[in-house]
Amino acid sequence: MNTVCIHGFSGTGNTLLVTRHLAQALAGHGVAVSCRPLLPGLPVEAAVGDLGLTFPVACQSTYPFVWDFVDALPPGNGRGVFVVDTLHMTSGGLLAPLRRRFEEKGYHPLGAIEVRMPSNLRLQAISPEGAKRVLDQALAKVDAFAAELAAGTARWPRAGWFESTVYALSRWRGTWAFARWGMGMRLDRAQCSGCGLCEKLCPVGAIRYDREPALDRGACQLCMRCHSFCPVGAIRSRLSWNRYHAVTAAELLAANKSEGEES
Ligand SMILES: Cc1cc2nc3c(=O)[nH]c(=O)nc-3n(C[C@H](O)[C@H](O)[C@H](O)COP(=O)(O)O)c2cc1C
Ligand code: SF4
Ligand code: SF4
Repeated sequence: MNTVCIHGFSGTGNTLLVTRHLAQALAGHGVAVSCRPLLPGLPVEAAVGDLGLTFPVACQSTYPFVWDFVDALPPGNGRGVFVVDTLHMTSGGLLAPLRRRFEEKGYHPLGAIEVRMPSNLRLQAISPEGAKRVLDQALAKVDAFAAELAAGTARWPRAGWFESTVYALSRWRGTWAFARWGMGMRLDRAQCSGCGLCEKLCPVGAIRYDREPALDRGACQLCMRCHSFCPVGAIRSRLSWNRYHAVTAAELLAANKSEGEES
């Protein structure tokens, strides 16, 4: 691998930390790396070198807009592709269907890993020591993967027999409707200070600010950004999930922009 463009999305910062570390590690192996956002409607970087995608796991797979991004990729014509996802425990319905999708589009699968990070879906905050332990293991795994990618020895884990079923379930609209109901995200206008941050952060335009903000629960894909970063805690979830974030909102907004793009 000589050149790679990594398109990444991170809800609460885990994937951003991993993506940055991966980019640095690959650069350390002499690979020319550029980083771009993975967001709805954004074009993929022109086919120079290989392509990397980084994103979180959600509902045993990933966010519907990530699948839409993959579906909208131009024909690969043999271009190499790798995937790094971050998760708390297990995906189950992701890597094998993703590999198939890439192959159908003419991409050459180079390798994939799943990186365990502190969960952004917990009722109580993880201890700093616990978070550091998980993060250290995660970054070591990313280092090893970068070395394998650079050497051309990375692998794409084999599918389990259950993967197609889990994939079908995780892509089913009813699963997401149930998850949205279970999460019960709501915006408390009485508490809102009107800063507008949630609208800027939302990757799918589910929060519109027109004199006052409104959250369209049906459009929300549960990335947790608004919930984690609202400065006054006006966006709440049914179960009062812990407001986790691994980076600042400013870092996520900066990563939303392609390199060289003005704020
Ligand atoms: C709505 C939602 C669903 C999730 N589903 C899963 C899951 O199925 N399996 C898992 O291991 N982790 C799951 N997680 C945890 C995240 O994948 C994990 O914390 C990830 O590192 C978050 O990355 P980010 O900070 O870049 O958004 C879920 C998190 C959210 C918010
Ligand atoms: S981030 Fe919070 S305070 Fe700011 S506009 Fe959104 S809901 Fe209101
Ligand atoms: S409404 Fe909040 S949780 Fe839902 S997709 Fe937008 S930023 Fe993410």
